[in-house]
Amino acid sequence: MTRLTVLGICGSPRPGNSEFLLDKALDAAHEVDPVAVECLRYTVRGKKMAPCLSCFRCGELGGECVIKDSFQEARDLWLRADVVIYSVPVYHMGLPGQLKCFIDRLGNSLFGRYRHLFPPGVDSLPRHLKVIAGIAQGVHLCSGQEHALTDIVNHALLMQCVPVTGDMWESYIGAAGWTANDIERAALSKQFEEGRQNAELLVKAARDVGRRATETALVLRAGVLARESLLKTDPTYLPLLERVRVAEVSR
Ligand SMILES: Cc1cc2nc3c(=O)[nH]c(=O)nc-3n(C[C@H](O)[C@H](O)[C@H](O)COP(=O)(O)O)c2cc1C
Repeated sequence: MTRLTVLGICGSPRPGNSEFLLDKALDAAHEVDPVAVECLRYTVRGKKMAPCLSCFRCGELGGECVIKDSFQEARDLWLRADVVIYSVPVYHMGLPGQLKCFIDRLGNSLFGRYRHLFPPGVDSLPRHLKVIAGIAQGVHLCSGQEHALTDIVNHALLMQCVPVTGDMWESYIGAAGWTANDIERAALSKQFEEGRQNAELLVKAARDVGRRATETALVLRAGVLARESLLKTDPTYLPLLERVRVAEVSR
């Protein structure tokens, strides 16, 4: 059996609706295979995540960012994960700032980290093939959820990963929903307990995202193992093979 690491990243600075939905997604991920699937959580809450300075020193420092804050811990978890599920509140019709800061710095610094894999002068990223999925909710209806999810899909593509959604018809490009005009942090959990349709659909969508992302990663993992001899001839697959090997040894 293969060990799989599912990382849930909460993009809200408070313990609230994003965290509630992330827990639902991770529960469903765990249920796919309670023995093989390990779920980890990371939240931006209480963390310091400064914006990228555009100094490009990470290109010279083997991918190390000159700013020392919570970024390094989040990056290490991200690198270790086979699946990353982002659960975010919609801010200004898009991603919340702390998460955007993380994604910007991650993207840039990984070019420096993996420069040795490519010929001199070539700026590229390895094929991580992590499965990435998003959950986005806001206080209002149609108020930026799809924009936030599109940012997550774009991030997945840029990082050479595999974006997935949930199931029809609750999740077109991820789980999206609203709190029905309630700004309270417990809005969704309360509405879910009351059997309100918006919350029930959103919980279903979040669970579908967690399950589908995990199932896809298990399929990918099996494919990587089956094709290992072919993939190891191409340096762009080395970080992926390394991740799979570590999981295989420690299982
Ligand atoms: C700075 C800020 C910007 C926001 N912008 C939006 C928005 O554009 N659309 C929306 O529906 N809700 C917006 N909201 C509301 C939150 O998305 C909403 O309250 C959400 O449920 C918070 O999730 P949380 O409990 O996980 O923090 C905003 C909230 C804040 C603090």
